Amino acid sequence: MKRTRIFTLRNPKSPVSEAFRTLRTNIQFYSIDDPIKSLVVTSSGPREGKSTVSVNIAATIAQTEKKVLLIDSDLRKPTLHRSFNMSSLKGLTNILVEGVEYTDVLHKVKEIDGLDIIGSGPIPPNPAELLGSNRMKAFIDSVNKKYDMVILDSPPIGLVTDSAILSTIVDGTILVCAVGESDINATKRAKDLLDKVNANILGVVLNKVPINGGGYYKYHYSQYYDYSYYDDGKRRGKAK
Ligand SMILES: Nc1ncnc2c1ncn2[C@@H]1O[C@H](COP(=O)(O)OP(=O)(O)OP(=O)(O)O)[C@@H](O)[C@H]1O
Ligand SMILES: [Mg+2]
Repeated sequence: MKRTRIFTLRNPKSPVSEAFRTLRTNIQFYSIDDPIKSLVVTSSGPREGKSTVSVNIAATIAQTEKKVLLIDSDLRKPTLHRSFNMSSLKGLTNILVEGVEYTDVLHKVKEIDGLDIIGSGPIPPNPAELLGSNRMKAFIDSVNKKYDMVILDSPPIGLVTDSAILSTIVDGTILVCAVGESDINATKRAKDLLDKVNANILGVVLNKVPINGGGYYKYHYSQYYDYSYYDDGKRRGKAK
């Protein structure tokens, strides 16, 4: 396993790992009666840290003896397979297009008990259509019966509709925002796009936050900012 991206595993006592544990707690306690069992991770623009955050949330939740399935739903630029030394050639698109059993394309992460990965599969010509299909919804519903948490990595919402579509079939959406890199207006637009489809935005992960560590700035830090309540005091429900 290429461990660079899974820094919560490499360094469990670091502030980053602590931030991910806080994020885990916030997700788990978000709604006691109707627990979050599936979520999509997105951002307004590219390279803000969606895949990194997806991997580390998945690993952090799996460490509490939960069964977690991480799916590469970025069918435009899949990268999760690289973190886990697996092939991207078999995965989600095989399930959706060919009806392949998910267990046939599942990758079990040896180092983290309870964490399974499904890669993207071959890149299709019509990602949004596939992700918005009834098959995708049925697939997520079926794996949700087997896993405590299903996490979907996705492309930037400011560029393509894929993650807005995905946000309507999961319980919650996390918006990653790279501090100092992403434009605040772009992040606001991303939130508006998610609101339009009535996504249940759980909060924003502020990624790449510069922290002052012993006199110099470090960039390896993430924070969770909960804005689950809006001005009208209501939580957004998931679209069924
Ligand atoms: N907190 C962080 N500190 C330092 N580097 C980071 C951090 N988060 C992500 N990166 C680095 O930023 C780059 C982009 O991260 P990542 O691939 O997770 O983003 P992404 O949003 O999934 O990108 P894409 O839009 O291409 O899918 C990677 O090189 C990653 O290692
Ligand atoms: Mg990515």
